[in-house]
Formats: sequence, C-alpha cells, structure tokens
Amino acid sequence: MLTNGMTEVLKIEYPIIQAPMAGGITTSTLVAEVSKSGGLGMIGAGYMTPNQIREQIREIKKLTSSPFGINLFVPNEFTYTESEIKSANQLLQPIYEQLNLQLNDSLDIPNSIHVFETFNEQIKVVIEEQVPVCSFTFGIPSKETIAELKRNTIILIGTATTVDEAVEVEKSGMDIVVVQGSEAGGHRGNFISQSQESLVGLMSLIPQVVDHVSIPVIAAGGIMDGRGLMASLCLGAKGVQMGTAFLTCIESGAHKVYKEAIMNAKEDQIVLTRAFSGKWARGIKNKFITEMEKHEDLLPDFPVQNTLTQPIRKASSSQNNADYISLWSGQSPRLAKNQTVKNLLDTIITEAKKINNYI
Ligand SMILES: Cc1cc2nc3c(=O)[nH]c(=O)nc-3n(C[C@H](O)[C@H](O)[C@H](O)COP(=O)(O)O)c2cc1C
Repeated sequence: MLTNGMTEVLKIEYPIIQAPMAGGITTSTLVAEVSKSGGLGMIGAGYMTPNQIREQIREIKKLTSSPFGINLFVPNEFTYTESEIKSANQLLQPIYEQLNLQLNDSLDIPNSIHVFETFNEQIKVVIEEQVPVCSFTFGIPSKETIAELKRNTIILIGTATTVDEAVEVEKSGMDIVVVQGSEAGGHRGNFISQSQESLVGLMSLIPQVVDHVSIPVIAAGGIMDGRGLMASLCLGAKGVQMGTAFLTCIESGAHKVYKEAIMNAKEDQIVLTRAFSGKWARGIKNKFITEMEKHEDLLPDFPVQNTLTQPIRKASSSQNNADYISLWSGQSPRLAKNQTVKNLLDTIITEAKKINNYI
C-alpha cells in the first residue's frame, strides 16, 4: 500500500518527503533523521552558498548512508531602481526603530547576473558531491542544466501549482512533480500562472494533474498526518511532501518562538503576504504583515525585498520576538506537534495502515 514506483525510484521505505525549507530549518540532523526513519530528507539550499551546501552534504553523509535530496531556487530575472529601494526602506524605517536597529545603506542587494552565477555553482556542487535527488522551485532550469544533472544520474523533482505547470515539468525531462496546493506553507512555486490564479486547493489539484502527466505526482500543502497521506494517495498521488509538520519537530532548526507560534496558531490566522520577501508566501499573520499590508503592492520583487528585511528578521529572532520573523506555515497548524522525526513518521505510518484496513 505504501510502496510504489516512486518509492522504488527514490529508494525510500515510505512515500514521505520532508519538504526542503530554506532558511536554516533543515539541519543536517533533521534531514538525516528523516532519511534514517524511512522518508526522504531534503536540504532547503535556496539561500545557501555553494560552500555551505558542500559542507552540509558531507555532514549528512556522515550521519546516514540513506538517500537524501537537495532543493534549489531556479533564478528569475529581476530589476530594481534606487528609488524603489529608498521607498521600501522608508516603509521599513519605523520597524527598524522598534527593534533598535540602524538602517544599513551598505546592504548587499543582489543582482540578476550574480544570482544566475550562484545557481550554476550550486548545481556544480550537487553534481560533484553526488546528491541522489535534486528538486527545484520557482521554475524549470535550462535544458543544459537538466541534461547535465541527468547525465550524472541525479533524480529530478519539479514543483507545480497548476496542471499546465506540471505538464511543463514533465516535458522538461524531470522524473517527479510536486504539486503545491494553495494550503502550502512558505513561498508559492508558481512560474506560469500569476500567484492569485495559482491558488488551487490540493483536493482539486491532485486528480487533475494525475490525469495530465505520466510521471509520479507528490502532494504538498496542509498534510500533517496519516489522514492527509492516505487522502493524497486516494486522489492519485504517489506520495506527500510535508513542511510544517517537520518544521515543529525537535530536530528542526526553526527558532523556539517560531515553533511555538505555529503550535498556538489557528487555521484562519495563516495568510498570504509578499511583505517579507517580495514573493507571495504563506505564513502566520504577525505584526510585520499587518503593518506592511497596505504597502504590499509597492514593494520590490524577490529577492530584493528579502534582502532589505533580513536585518529585521535577524534582530527580531535574536530578541525572541515573533512579531517581525517570517512565520511560514501551511494551513493546518492545529495538527503540528513538537516531537521527534521518528515519532512523527511512525505515527503517520500507523495511522495510514489503520485507515487502509477500513477503506
Ligand atoms: C518554512 C518553509 C520554508 C519552505 N521553503 C521551501 C524551499 O526552500 N523550497 C521549496 O521547494 N519549498 C519550500 N517550502 C514549501 C514546501 O515545499 C511545501 O510546499 C509546503 O511546506 C507544504 O505545505 P505544508 O507546510 O502545509 O506541509 C517551504 C515551506 C515552509 C513551511
């Protein structure tokens, strides 16, 4: 019941992928524990330098010989003007003051060329270190990059938020597609549809994608337990990718106040915002989101706004203050628990088997 072509390809015992979560959450212990417990651990490497990536891959290999994966952000062109930066900083000024921070004029604002170069270097490390699985969000890498990864027998996973995007992922030659429902925590992976149009619920998305692609479909968004796993399998998915459920685990690198915020949140407090990064993402509504809400459309695009808000998130975090941290979460926070990875996976499998007995 829980094994299929997808688990065979990935060489895992259970059809469960721990979502890659960029920003320090996917510690080596988290990734290794997931893989050791029968799932697929994934490094969220989107914001990591090539050297940091190499170090973490080597660290995980010391902790487990089971397969694990890595996730990268496909770069997209972006531009900005000095006046956009100035007005974005003006909007952030009151928050800087509340946190006793000085506005820093020498922030290293990224440029498109540099972002593309870094991506190519990240890919090089993934190949050199022979990571078995590489997944992508925010688009599809170039034909050349895909061909190079495949020549090195790396299994490739793309992210889609609509049927059309899933079809493009399959056409590009990737092996598996993660479909990200509107419930999903963190950034939206849409790359054809605009964010608003890409907000399709998982229950609608899975069977429609399954009918239009022949590669295995992995479901992501709001899945926290055996019920979510079995529902996804019934709709035609071959497995699930879970973020929030792993984020509150003991082994995750998320800040204590962040884990607590999720465990105290209700489903109707989880909103979409582009205030933190310039890209639409789902998380718990806090003071930062409320204060920036009316300016949301004026903010610079990802990754520029993300760089501008970085000092705020860092200071808020070191002050144990959840008001100005990005509290990314899916729409099922009431199901989150602070437990070990092993406990989470064992419970999901026990629940799934029980459900399987009466369906
Ligand atoms: C804190 C956080 C960070 C995330 N970072 C990434 C990422 O770096 N790459 C990616 O492909 N998806 C990322 N996601 C999205 C997940 O892959 C997945 O779609 C989502 O977690 C599913 O919803 P759930 O959190 O309700 O399980 C992130 C999600 C969260 C909650």
